[in-house]
Amino acid sequence: MCSASASSTPTVTVSRDEVITGDAANNVTDNIYEKIGVNLHHIDSHPLGIIKSAIYSFFDRNYPDTFTKFDDLHPVVKATANFDEVLVPADHVSRSSNDTYYVDADTVLRCHTSAHQAETLRKGFASFLVTGDVYRRDSIDATHYPVFHQMEGVRVFTEEEWKAAGATDGTAYCEQELKKALEGLAKELFGDVEMRWIDAYFPFTEPSFELEIFFNGQWLEVLGCGVMEQQILDSNGREGHKAWAFGLGLERLAMVLFDIPDIRLFWTSDQRFLKQFKAGALDTKFKPYSKFPPCFKDVAFWVSEDFTENNLCELVRGVAGDLVEEVKLIDDFTHPKTGKTSNCFRIAYRSMERSLTDDEINSLQEEVRAQMAGQLGVELR
Ligand code: DAH
Repeated sequence: MCSASASSTPTVTVSRDEVITGDAANNVTDNIYEKIGVNLHHIDSHPLGIIKSAIYSFFDRNYPDTFTKFDDLHPVVKATANFDEVLVPADHVSRSSNDTYYVDADTVLRCHTSAHQAETLRKGFASFLVTGDVYRRDSIDATHYPVFHQMEGVRVFTEEEWKAAGATDGTAYCEQELKKALEGLAKELFGDVEMRWIDAYFPFTEPSFELEIFFNGQWLEVLGCGVMEQQILDSNGREGHKAWAFGLGLERLAMVLFDIPDIRLFWTSDQRFLKQFKAGALDTKFKPYSKFPPCFKDVAFWVSEDFTENNLCELVRGVAGDLVEEVKLIDDFTHPKTGKTSNCFRIAYRSMERSLTDDEINSLQEEVRAQMAGQLGVELR
């Protein structure tokens, strides 16, 4: 198999009407639609492109002609590919429309690159890396953004392969090969760091692990991985074969490696950010070019039955875009007599490019309050 970038399904531009349908299940917003097709990981001098290339180069050097690379698979996928084909249980929270963006009842914006495992196996690829933008409804803070980037890695072994390597147990062989590969990758990115393996759970692997590294004085989780569930191989043309798989978040790695303090920075077009990074340079440390003070606004309300923090965050992003830095629950109490629950959220507004005026922030906050009363059905206090 060739190691050059495979000509995968190219990213096609989808029209707004195809993504924001009138379907009752649709919960995609304009903010989210605008991110589709941006493909920050395609830019060689962007921190995400730099990390992607460094990982490619690690696998190319250590496993020549082994991994086929896909970084252009479209993020709109069938819900079956995102969930069922990787054995996500029917009642798993990630399937809820509170957590995932649905285009319609059967179609989602992928919430992980694992959505491409099964189809890529079915196409006949045995070892591959899939990089792409993934989408999750979530809370708002410096490390969470509704769109981020992941890389998925899969390596399949035939029985002849692991027997020829002297192994008697395919699963044990995969686990050993997986750990060797990922420890090598972590060293490539972070240097000679201390590492540890933590037992984990993922629906698509057994056993499952997380790799942690000791960096800047603390243990950091860098990826999830494991030995692929046999059912995934057996159902997709690889009966009786064995495989390892991993998934990692590019922003998380880039924030740690380059000292990037806020996940919104990846989306900025400010040259003061972009100019600091150079294709191929893993040793850049980001120097903040300005730090404007945040402005905090609190909003207190009686919650409605179907109120969720993710819905509030989506609404705030719709109003304030990347000017919102954090939305944090600071008070939560239930009235002893009425049984009604009151929440207070503190919203931090901050631009990374300029100072915001009081008027600007007040009008954002007014709009947030109006939409909360109108759309979330909560009673403002
Ligand atoms: N899909 C997982 C996530 O988004 C990451 C992951 C974990 C991918 C383990 C894998 C794996 O392929 O084996 O959190």
